[in-house]
Amino acid sequence: MSKKILVTGGAGFLGSHLCERLIALGHDVLCVDNYFTGRKENIAHLLSNPRFEIMRHDVTFPLYVEVDEIYNLACPASPIHYQYDPVQTTKTSVHGAINMLGLAKRVKARILQASTSEVYGDPEIHPQTEDYWGKVNPIGIRSCYDEGKRCAETLFFDYWRQHHLEIKVVRIFNTYGPRMHPNDGRVVSNFIVQALRGEDITIYGDGQQTRSFCYVDDLVEAMIRMMASRADFTGPVNIGNPSEFSMLQLAELVIRLTGSQSKLIFKPLPQDDPKQRRPDITLAQQELNWQPTVSLEEGLTKTMAYFANLQPTR
Ligand SMILES: NC(=O)c1ccc[n+]([C@@H]2O[C@H](COP(=O)([O-])OP(=O)(O)OC[C@H]3O[C@@H](n4cnc5c(N)ncnc54)[C@H](O)[C@@H]3O)[C@@H](O)[C@H]2O)c1
Repeated sequence: MSKKILVTGGAGFLGSHLCERLIALGHDVLCVDNYFTGRKENIAHLLSNPRFEIMRHDVTFPLYVEVDEIYNLACPASPIHYQYDPVQTTKTSVHGAINMLGLAKRVKARILQASTSEVYGDPEIHPQTEDYWGKVNPIGIRSCYDEGKRCAETLFFDYWRQHHLEIKVVRIFNTYGPRMHPNDGRVVSNFIVQALRGEDITIYGDGQQTRSFCYVDDLVEAMIRMMASRADFTGPVNIGNPSEFSMLQLAELVIRLTGSQSKLIFKPLPQDDPKQRRPDITLAQQELNWQPTVSLEEGLTKTMAYFANLQPTR
């Protein structure tokens, strides 16, 4: 059945893919974005579709619309962007969550929160399961994002307990793909852009720290399955790809796939950078019957094609 669906942060990397998929499934999509990190280019191809509508709006202010479902993605996601105006980052997570939950309560909509593996901080257990409470620095330079997202989760669960809202919380681990911002300092886009330009590839620390990388199509599939899951399944549920790669392995793969002559250079590790991050996705497998299907090599190849064709904008 066709629904009216609000996607906040819909002009961003993940949001634009989600809007695209929801429209393809026959839904009407209202994309709300203040274009802080999102770009009109990401959704330009959807503008002529009568099922798609865009509204410039900052989620730290209340929003009055009639919708059946809400995907709350609005929030800068990369350290460069979320540390640019940390107070605004926390406000976006916390006030944004309050405003969207208030809206969901008013119109009786199901609401999904795009939370993050950052709620686990620098984890003491590996891989991370949803029942792990995390090890987060409350006063560091990443805290505006980590604690903002943790507080948003708190608000979601209090609205569920107190107001019986149908909430869905997904904890997203590193996701990559076409339409990532080319200059946001995230490792996959960094390495690809540097390799395509033949520049040195920057490794922070010794490159032994590991991450797991999920391709965007897999992530969007999981979000849609989560929204459609049984009413009493709230999450939080980890969504990510459990295959683990060191930064050195990733750099070598990018160099091989691009055929680049780039060399590796090493710089000091930023403050509070986690050493290891890998999701345990048992819960997503059980509850959503979901697991990633796109290999790193396949996903990187698609992402490289996007960056190779990208016209410089800003
Ligand atoms: N990409 C990942 O690996 C990843 C991992 C964990 C969590 N997430 C979460 O998923 C969501 C989307 O991330 P992304 O990678 O697409 O990042 P992104 O920066 O591309 O998208 C975020 C979008 O939110 C918009 N936005 C920011 N502040 C806003 C505000 N106050 N009002 C309205 N719109 C606002 C931005 O303009 C942008 O379009 C974020 O909430 C992020 O925390 C992403």
